[in-house]
Amino acid sequence: MRSLAEQTTAELGGRWSVLTRQKRDHVELEGMLQELDVAAVEEQPEILHRIYRLVFPHAFAEESVLWPTIRRVLPDGEHLTAIVEQEHQQINELVAELEELSLQDADRPALLASIVELLREDVRDEEDTLLPRLQEALQPKELRRLGLAWEAVRRSAPTRPHPVVSRRPPGNVLAALPLSALDRARDTLDRAALRSEGLRPNLSRVSAALCRGAAVVEHIPVMRTGERAGTRDKSTSR
Ligand SMILES: [Fe+2]
Ligand SMILES: [Fe+2]
Repeated sequence: MRSLAEQTTAELGGRWSVLTRQKRDHVELEGMLQELDVAAVEEQPEILHRIYRLVFPHAFAEESVLWPTIRRVLPDGEHLTAIVEQEHQQINELVAELEELSLQDADRPALLASIVELLREDVRDEEDTLLPRLQEALQPKELRRLGLAWEAVRRSAPTRPHPVVSRRPPGNVLAALPLSALDRARDTLDRAALRSEGLRPNLSRVSAALCRGAAVVEHIPVMRTGERAGTRDKSTSR
């Protein structure tokens, strides 16, 4: 069993294979994490914004398309996916917490370092263990079909942390549409606010209202259905 990192695109099943698509996103993420490593504090929000736009839809599509497939095709899929679901849950919780802090908050550097560490750990667990196991179980043709499904969900998935919703179907699938619409509207407003100081107060107020709307949606009980007992055991919320 070889890590995805050591394999060529052809070995991964071609450019449409879910393994190639995963690796491509992981490489892009690592590039942005390296940017973040050396960025000044005031440059961090813009880089983090790009990281979230990549990471959350990526992970959401894993939780709703890839992990259910792994549970179906691997005898120990339940155990393997429980580990990455816990990592995803922790990242959702820590990012939600980070977003509440000001740039000057004394707790912020340590919290940010934990998020970066967890993101890198998640990539290693997937590339070195989980996805090579999936590769052993599926034909290249099936990996390409899965790549299409994963990509379709990824393109329309939420772009922000949602620690309250289930990390498993059906809860996360039901939550996807309303949360994605709210997240993507907030992304547009926040990008505009970053560019225009004059409009910033108004745009930020609308974005905050959408954020409260997302919190209401997250707490609808059906959005929490399907969660595996134990996913929140490592909860890092303070
Ligand atoms: Fe991934
Ligand atoms: Fe992941």
